[in-house]
Amino acid sequence: MSLELREVVDADLPIFFEQQLDPEANWMAAFTGKDPADRVVFERHWERIRKDPAIIIRTIVAGGQVAGHISSYVEEGEPEVTYWLGRSFWGRGVASRSLRLFLDQVNRERPMRARVAKDNVASLTVLRKCGFEIVGEDRGYANARTGETEEYLLRLQAP
Ligand SMILES: CC(C)(COP(=O)(O)OP(=O)(O)OC[C@H]1O[C@@H](n2cnc3c(N)ncnc32)[C@H](O)[C@@H]1OP(=O)(O)O)[C@@H](O)C(=O)NCCC(=O)NCCS
Repeated sequence: MSLELREVVDADLPIFFEQQLDPEANWMAAFTGKDPADRVVFERHWERIRKDPAIIIRTIVAGGQVAGHISSYVEEGEPEVTYWLGRSFWGRGVASRSLRLFLDQVNRERPMRARVAKDNVASLTVLRKCGFEIVGEDRGYANARTGETEEYLLRLQAP
């Protein structure tokens, strides 16, 4: 399947919104906004992050279709990566390939951070395959689980 990362365009947003509604995806990501179905909050959030020069966002296009998005934002002076795919694209290596492309072509800053709910095995696998290592643990309130949730902190060092 072909795969490319490109700049976000307005027409991607309704697709991202649909993808954001998926209950299983929310459970996996855990640390989400309060109400993924709130369109106004969604629109405001995307307007803000698309304008912010410190945030790099790309649309993941797989097989010619908008599969999801991948981005990095700065956390305590280091970039932190995050991604979200529509469910119909899961389980086919799209996230692993997208993260590799993002690291190779889009954001080469190192070290880079990531965080993942401890039981989000798919995302943890994606990160480890791309060279991220667990460097710590944290816990906090996760909106999507309405409760305290444990997570791993990961870091990708310069080669
Ligand atoms: C997490 C997510 C990005 C994974 O996308 P994906 O395209 O399915 O991931 P890939 O196919 O590249 O790789 C997933 C890996 O995890 C493995 N995996 C998936 N579910 C698993 C499970 N329950 N237990 C063990 N391994 C699992 C797959 O076998 C694969 O490993 P492999 O390449 O060694 O076979 C996608 O499910 C998603 O968007 N989820 C919702 C949002 C989210 O969790 N974002 C990340 C926040 S940290």
